[in-house]
Parts: sequence; structure tokens; C-alpha cells
Amino acid sequence: MNVDIGNALAAVAEPGLSRDELATLDERVARAHERIERGRTDGEFGYAALNLPRTTDAEAIRDAVAPVADAETVVTVGIGGSALGARTITSALAADGGTSHVVLDNVDPDHVSRVLSELSLAETAINVVSKSGTTAETLSNFLVVREAMVEAGVDWTERTVVTTGDEGPLAALADEHDLPTLAVPDGVPGRFAALSSVGLVPAAILGCDIEGLLDGAAAAAETLDSSLFECPAYAYGAVAYGLEERGATINAVVPYAERLEPFAEWFAQLWAESLGKDGRGQTPARALGATDQHSQLQLYRAGRRDKLVTLLRPRERPSLDVPAAEADALAHLEGTDLGELLDTELRATEASLAEAGQPNVRVELDRLDPRGLGELLYAMEAACVLVGELAGVETFTQPAVEWGKQAARDVLEGDETEKTAAIEDKHE
Ligand code: PA5
Repeated sequence: MNVDIGNALAAVAEPGLSRDELATLDERVARAHERIERGRTDGEFGYAALNLPRTTDAEAIRDAVAPVADAETVVTVGIGGSALGARTITSALAADGGTSHVVLDNVDPDHVSRVLSELSLAETAINVVSKSGTTAETLSNFLVVREAMVEAGVDWTERTVVTTGDEGPLAALADEHDLPTLAVPDGVPGRFAALSSVGLVPAAILGCDIEGLLDGAAAAAETLDSSLFECPAYAYGAVAYGLEERGATINAVVPYAERLEPFAEWFAQLWAESLGKDGRGQTPARALGATDQHSQLQLYRAGRRDKLVTLLRPRERPSLDVPAAEADALAHLEGTDLGELLDTELRATEASLAEAGQPNVRVELDRLDPRGLGELLYAMEAACVLVGELAGVETFTQPAVEWGKQAARDVLEGDETEKTAAIEDKHE
């Protein structure tokens, strides 16, 4: 993986980072790296996520999913960190025409009914994921799907794989019905769990190379270094942090690959939930190249100077040439490779932003394969942890998210608490 920060420097961009600012940042990166390495060595909460490439047991995941390996469709029932990694991985890596992967994260009845009506439930595997085992959306959707299976005469216990923490209602239910169950690894917050059973179960059922993904992540782990100039992940994190300090409070992530569209959503959770604390944090924005060049680029080039634009592409793509057309006016397109066209569009966006002095960073994978994706996911997690260290926030907690989850639970359980009172006040 390569990270090009040239267009984030003061010589090109405003806000941009001067060489002196980068040198000062580099000293801080060295100290942050020491802290991160200590956390990894001691398996401390959160930092332990950066050890997943070597602690995740791919074989145990393959064993757990063996009973549902014949599935036509995998339905992941989970939300937030218990869904976005899985969706990102299968979107990027699944072979065309094979088992499909559907995520039921939201509890929109219209959507859930439609998804269920389109499934052949006897050929469906249910992948229920909840670290806490108490999330209302996940448990409700699971009970709805389970009921649909019962009504269709399908033995749901034969079609369900569970990933959860040691305790909680989901663990108890899995135990009661003797369901294949994988543990959420210790010390790993949901949004940092993509490289564990939390993110890998559907990929394993779909036949993706999860070992290759973990190898790629392990290779990225090897690149962590005390200097941002030697480590692509830290270069990205340090520049994002430095630019935020200079006013770039939005980070627009623009993958130039359809298969990476869900990556932008995964990144948005990682960045927002980890770094949005103490009045700080870049707001992640999601876009897709080249599609959003025809909409959002106007704002990114000429709007408020409060953005870092992160452009992302695989260097290698499959080729698909534009065929000949009858009109002379279209002759220039004949024989053009669509991948080359997409890359040209990226370069045009980059140049357009640079010409307007708008900071942007290019992140490149060699190719969009298991190894490349593993490197990318790991590098962005490491970048995020680094930013958290530099900003001095509690990267691995999510009190605002927990507040809402608890309030919803209190309402559903009929408890009168400060949170339910706050909700009621709002409605008066
Ligand atoms: O990252 C997080 O902590 C959250 O997004 C959780 O993953 C999300 O709320 C789901 O929680 P759980 O896995 O406990 O169902």
C-alpha cells in the first residue's frame, strides 16, 4: 500500500502542512508509536485489535461455518461494528455469481420484510453478530428472521452461526440451542473487529481467502514504525491529524472502485466513533469515484476550506475496452480501457483539487485482492489509533453511542430512568 501526501503539503494546499510541521509531527508519532506498541504487547483494550492478524484463528472460523457452507445467501444480522466490516470484506472480495451476502442492520420493517420475501430460507445461512449480545436492533431482527424460518419449516438451528461475547442473552440463546459460536476476541472494540470472526464469517462462507486477508493485514502490521516517513499508515494518520488541527474538519473518502464503496462506510464509523470526542474529530464524508465527481466534487474543490479529500484506488484493475461506435465523434473512446478511464478521472480530480489548493491524499493498493484489502483495513485502523494518540482522545470507547443504546433499551423495558425522562421531555 502506498500513501502519497504531496498534495497535503503547504506548498500545494491551504490548509496544508509545512515541512517543519511534519518534522514536529514526526517526533510526536515516535512517542505515539511507543505507546501503541506497549498497548499491543500488553494486549490492552483497543490496542489488542492491532494484533488480530496473528491472533485470529481462520481455521476455527472455517470449522464453525462448515455446516452452512452450502448456503445460497448469507444474512448477517448485526449493526455498526458488527456489520460494516463483514459487508466491506465480502463486497471487495466475493466472486461474482456465487453465494450472496445480505446485511440486516437496520430495523426498517419495509426493508426487513422485503429481504425475507426474496430469500430461499432453506438455502440461507444466518450470521448473528453482537459483541454485547444485547443490541435491540440485532436481537429483534434475529428473532424476526428466526420466526420466518420456523414458519417456512426450516430448522433455524442448522442454519445459524453466532459471534458474540462470553455473556449476555445471545450467548445464552446460542448455548441453549447448541449453535456454532465464535467468540468476539478480548480487548477488541466492535469497529476494530473486522479482522476477527466479527468480520470474517460471511467471507468464509462465500469462499473468500480470509487467510490471504489476514496475511495482508500482518504485512501492514510489520510496517508500523516510529517515523511517519517510513510507515504509510502513520503518514496517513499524521497528515489527517495535522490537517484537522489546521481546520480540515471533514475527511471525504472517495474510493475509485465500486467494490470499495462499503469501505467508505466502514471508514466513516471507524473515524467518527473513535475520534469524535472532546469537541474534536474529523467528520467523515462518503463518496464514490468517478460517480461523485459529477456531484460532490464542486464542493470539495470550491466550497469551504475545511476538508481533506482521501482518494483511494487499486493500481491494477481488470480490463474492459470500449468498442467501436458508428459516429466519428465517438472515435476517441474506441479501445479505451474503462479502468484507465477511471484512473484518468481520479488523476483529473486530484489535479483539480490541487490546482485549487484543496488538500488531498492518494491511497493506493497494488490490487483489490485479499492481501490488498487486509493491508488497507489494518493500515486505516492503525492510522485511526495514531490520530487518537495525537489528539489525546479515548479512541476505543463510544459513550455517545452507548447512551443511545441504553436509552432505547430503557424505553423498551419500560424503565423510568434519566434517559427515558430526557426522551419524554423532548416530546412534550
Ligand atoms: O463499534 C461499536 O462499538 C458499535 O458500533 C457496536 O459495534 C454496535 O453498537 C453493535 O454492538 P454489538 O456488537 O454489541 O451488538
